[in-house]
Amino acid sequence: KPRASLDLAGVADFLKSGACKSVYVLTGAGASTGAGIPDFRSPGGMYDSLRPELITATEAQRKRMRMDPVNVVMKDMFFQNQFPYLEVRRPFILGTQQQQWKATLTHWFMHFLEEEGLLKRLFTQNIDGLDYQTGISPKLVTNVHGSVARVSCEGCGAEMPFDDFCTQVRANVKDIYKTDPTAPAESSNINCPRCSRPLVKPNTVLFGSSLPTEFFEQTAELQQADLLIVAGTSLVVSPANAVVGMVPGECLRLIVNKEPVGEDLGIRYGKDATRDVWAGEISCDESFLELIKLLGWQDKVRKIKHL
Ligand code: OAD
Repeated sequence: KPRASLDLAGVADFLKSGACKSVYVLTGAGASTGAGIPDFRSPGGMYDSLRPELITATEAQRKRMRMDPVNVVMKDMFFQNQFPYLEVRRPFILGTQQQQWKATLTHWFMHFLEEEGLLKRLFTQNIDGLDYQTGISPKLVTNVHGSVARVSCEGCGAEMPFDDFCTQVRANVKDIYKTDPTAPAESSNINCPRCSRPLVKPNTVLFGSSLPTEFFEQTAELQQADLLIVAGTSLVVSPANAVVGMVPGECLRLIVNKEPVGEDLGIRYGKDATRDVWAGEISCDESFLELIKLLGWQDKVRKIKHL
């Protein structure tokens, strides 16, 4: 039986009531589009804008990428040819080093929940690390798909400092690409200092690899959830999307996404909803601003200079 009316005001009332003690959050790329980082599957997103013809690859590999752009981040592709991953991810890697992007209101909202003692854990599928800019406690964050800021060899696990990796990425690209960080192609693969294989890359999870073990340990906590917030994710990638089914049956679920997602996972919208709330067809930053107003947390927002 629902503990709150199934709208944003109901969620705010529940958060304020004292009955809601444990909030868990799952975020995806939509949480960072407001910062200027494209998501994966929207029009204009990474998979939509992929141009396999510009990538250093064989025709057969390009065909694979044309058939399914996810091949760029597949483990077997990376072991065959590191250029698709490195070339597509290069602007993102270097932008991360230059701290080009700023946390959005969506990221800040999670920190506000922590300040109020409500946030028990943030599961983020994002590898951009913007969550940490808010000062959120790192022990509350699970990087489900790894992080771009740590670098290691995909073959043997040897680590390399992020800045050294970026220096090599920069040194090995042609001049034109140095001056235009968004230009695709012409990167270099980087040899592992330990096993010498050219498999060094940011510590992000490739399709075909397993998730960090803490994901599996920490999802057990979801049994305690009173409220689950799902923000900016298409919920199509497993096992991260399984989070929505791991909360108790009576747990309220708030979906903050431009489009309804997760119906195949049992999320129900409109008249079929029994415990799910959709914040509507607006951006997640707008939805969280609405929620902030309902909660009376506007002072928290005023303190953040760049918002
Ligand atoms: P997707 O690109 O699949 O989904 C992003 C979702 O956010 C879509 O439903 C968008 O409509 C929505 N969205 C985008 N901008 C938004 C905004 N400003 N406000 C509200 N909604 C917005 O990204 P993810 O679900 O994060 O994994 O993708 C999951 C995984 O697939 C990624 O972690 C990555 C990718 O392949 C790996 O590489 C292992």
